[in-house]
Amino acid sequence: MELKNRPRRLRSTPELRKMVRETRIDASSLIYPMFVMDGKARVDEITALPGQYRYTVDMVDPKIEELLKAGVNSIMLFGIPEHKDETGTQAYAEDGIIQRAVSYIKNRYPELYVITDVCLCEYTSHGHCGVVCECGRRHDVDNDKTLELLSRTAVSQVLAGADMVAPSDMMDGRVAAIRSALDNNGFTNTPIMSYAVKFASSFYGPFREAAGSAPSFGDRKSYQMDFHNRREGIKEALLDVEEGADIVMVKPCMSYLDMIRDVYERTDIPVATYSVSGEYAMVKAAAAKGWIDEKSIMCEMAVAAFRAGASLYETYYAKELAECIKEGRIG
Ligand code: PBG
Repeated sequence: MELKNRPRRLRSTPELRKMVRETRIDASSLIYPMFVMDGKARVDEITALPGQYRYTVDMVDPKIEELLKAGVNSIMLFGIPEHKDETGTQAYAEDGIIQRAVSYIKNRYPELYVITDVCLCEYTSHGHCGVVCECGRRHDVDNDKTLELLSRTAVSQVLAGADMVAPSDMMDGRVAAIRSALDNNGFTNTPIMSYAVKFASSFYGPFREAAGSAPSFGDRKSYQMDFHNRREGIKEALLDVEEGADIVMVKPCMSYLDMIRDVYERTDIPVATYSVSGEYAMVKAAAAKGWIDEKSIMCEMAVAAFRAGASLYETYYAKELAECIKEGRIG
């Protein structure tokens, strides 16, 4: 029997190609990262993220309506406070930017699933993700002191109405600390999506410009992961699962698809991935030059993340992707 034509038959018509597709994506798996800032009546474009903005709370409505219309039902909020200090007090202030934004958005759009980023770097004057040690090495972050503040941050965000919290700080033991703080406050049903496998990455560059959160000294290498290490990534994910994470995230996405697959295989909870600011910025820049086809690149990147094993995909392209899914371009 002649076998060599079989695969070709499966590729022969668009209908059949679609019938046998191995990876399917749906807009309900998309998360849109959104920046909110203190102040009034302002929407500022982020230079290194063309088409992405920082919004004051009173200006978020058109964007949210646009997302919902496109079929994007989930956002992750990042706060940019006017006031930053050594211990990031605005991260856990009752009337902090995130707390006000969440409560406004959840009251107006109860159908929107709101996830909050739990980290101190946008709120500290030095830009590190935690409290900086007074003793020891200058660049060290005091892990345990930071846990207490992260727990307070998470509880205050959930009190304001957040549906899920996403710690991105990479301190050791933070999932367990946040879990027990949430439980003690009666939020036993609020899930934690942990940025378990977060590499110290230059792909975060444009985000740091957006949030004004670049560290003023040192770097994040003592708490974010070394990108040479794959097995350490699995270890981080397993630890977070043990501590009670409901979803684990791999970040960045495009250069870390192997990690997505590893974590997918080694854990039994959903894997999320974040296609970060640098990935978006590169596509935008090349597209602006006319060097690549933006839409197809965006679609290909997204499908690759799902193919690798992600169930959730966070991206600045969430709305455009949802539109492509609707049009049947991917999905
Ligand atoms: C906060 C945080 C960062 C990102 C998400 N949460 C920045 C960082 O760790 O430096 C990056 C997201 C992006 O680049 O789009 N810790």
